Amino acid sequence: MSDNFIGKPIPKNVETRDGVVAWRSPSNIALIKYWGKHGRQLPRNPSLSFSLSNAHTDTQVSYTIREESQETASVSFSFEGKKNAAFEARIQKFLDSIVTNFPYLKNVDLDIKSQNSFPHSSGIASSASSMSALALCLTDIEYELSGKATDASFFLKASYISRLGSGSASRSVYKDFCVWGETSLDEKYVDEYAVPLDKVHPVFEALHDDILIVSSVEKSVSSTAGHKLMEDNPYADIRYAEARRKLVALAGIIEQGQVSAFGKIVEEEALSLHALMMCSDPSYVLIEPASLEIINEIRKFRKETGTPIFFTLDAGPNVHVIYPDSVQKKAREFVESKLLIHCEDGRHIFDRMGDGPQKISYKNKI
Ligand code: PMV
Repeated sequence: MSDNFIGKPIPKNVETRDGVVAWRSPSNIALIKYWGKHGRQLPRNPSLSFSLSNAHTDTQVSYTIREESQETASVSFSFEGKKNAAFEARIQKFLDSIVTNFPYLKNVDLDIKSQNSFPHSSGIASSASSMSALALCLTDIEYELSGKATDASFFLKASYISRLGSGSASRSVYKDFCVWGETSLDEKYVDEYAVPLDKVHPVFEALHDDILIVSSVEKSVSSTAGHKLMEDNPYADIRYAEARRKLVALAGIIEQGQVSAFGKIVEEEALSLHALMMCSDPSYVLIEPASLEIINEIRKFRKETGTPIFFTLDAGPNVHVIYPDSVQKKAREFVESKLLIHCEDGRHIFDRMGDGPQKISYKNKI
């Protein structure tokens, strides 16, 4: 599939009016990680994630049609009720880069308001939920202006546009599990956008993700810099091949409901991501002693009780504790009694697999 989400100008024969759209879009947690990119935000290896429920962004875009065309849209942006110049500049740059995908941007002024369900400084990456919420709004406006009803390609385009904003955001436009990037599993999985993973055993249908905030301090090395460091990482080629192999294995495990095999790959993958950081040049470490304490506690508890409870990590020190719904009571008691003490001021978000993005009424609260 080539980069073919080129849009059409606002049709002359359709009555166009000013309007407002709003979407709530979730964050997601990758089990096979996207780490390393090339070209226009294309992944070096496929990734597999599931969408969350409680960690999400609400974005509302009001558009005003202009008769005369300009190079790009003009935008005003506020975050959590306050005008935010830094985010506004970033969004303006992003909009400038997608005018060929959405030619209507030449004829609109946009007023964008956004808010997260989780605190901005919680150490939870907001780019997946925020970029996907914005991409869903922009795709929705295109559909509204051209009088098109939402169809299957709506989410493909929204995923494609999300990817251009932040790679991992491409995976936030669906519920449950999805895959972004070419894999030998099936030709439907491509680098340009994410696609749902359809064969899921019931044991994995309502996974939990207890997000333990070890530190809310901004990361010393951003994901953008981390992706770049992969270019000269001596283990890069092996890593990409391993990620491809592990994704195919994990998809089979998810289909067949093999819980321990699932945990083995998920944990290996989390530690591989951090190992890559440690052997970059310059080397860096994002996990903290408390992250390791939590990891060790989880492994000990699993060994002693046989409870299927696992960890994964994003590009930071916070630990995501993953377990099936069938062991929720036991797992939650363990998290509350043994793990929250390692968190910064006990901070955490009890999250779980979610229903994907939702169109929301702008009359609500934003
Ligand atoms: O989407 P980015 O550029 O912020 O990269 C995210 C990379 C990881 O979160 C570490 C892994 C992933 O696949 O989400």
